[in-house]
Amino acid sequence: MEIKTATYLISSPQVENCPKPDRPEYAFIGRSNVGKSSLINMLTGNSKLAKTSNTPGKTQLINHFDINKSFYIVDLPGYGFAKVSQKTRAVWEKMISGYLQTRENLITVFVLIDSRHKPQAIDLDFLRKLGEWGIPFNVIFTKADKSTQRVAAGNARKFIEAMREEWEYIPRSFMTSAVKHLGKKDILGYIGELNDEFLNGDEDA
Ligand code: GTP
Ligand code: MG
Repeated sequence: MEIKTATYLISSPQVENCPKPDRPEYAFIGRSNVGKSSLINMLTGNSKLAKTSNTPGKTQLINHFDINKSFYIVDLPGYGFAKVSQKTRAVWEKMISGYLQTRENLITVFVLIDSRHKPQAIDLDFLRKLGEWGIPFNVIFTKADKSTQRVAAGNARKFIEAMREEWEYIPRSFMTSAVKHLGKKDILGYIGELNDEFLNGDEDA
């Protein structure tokens, strides 16, 4: 799948303000600063599309991007950001969980995991919540360029092993680097497959 056009549409404080759910949608979530906005820019080939920052907590709303006039990509705020007030955090959590639980055109949620770290409880807890809500997800390991291939692959393997303790079915995962453009082809190919399934109906179902 090739991205021909990628356009910023709208930033919404709650799901009610989001664009009409008339096409497939893919959301990107993960800990604050994990690289969600950078990954969206890498995938779309536009370094200025989603706002990125060295400081965690940059993305604060539900951001919709139109891709090829045929599907939506959504940049979400990060979870687990300690440096905002309890009240702000509660508002973000409500916004994210409200969006995830009610967005009817959401095909899958890409959960981003920093490949520099060993499995973190906060990420495994988040996946558990998605499971409780019955929301399909895939895992994307980020910042592969920041450590050796061996360390990044080792952390990814340990994360998948930790998932196996709770999950029977392990969804597809991807190793990425926004800097080195690693994983772009695989993720876009996967989204293309899901878009096709959505359009043709799932014949295997
Ligand atoms: P919030 O919106 O604040 O939750 O952060 P985010 O998850 O959107 O992260 P963002 O894309 O803003 O990136 C955070 C920082 O990590 C920035 O300084 C990016 O340049 C850096 N970064 C993101 N992805 C990569 C990567 O693949 N490699 C390297 N080396 N740095 C990255
Ligand atoms: Mg962001």
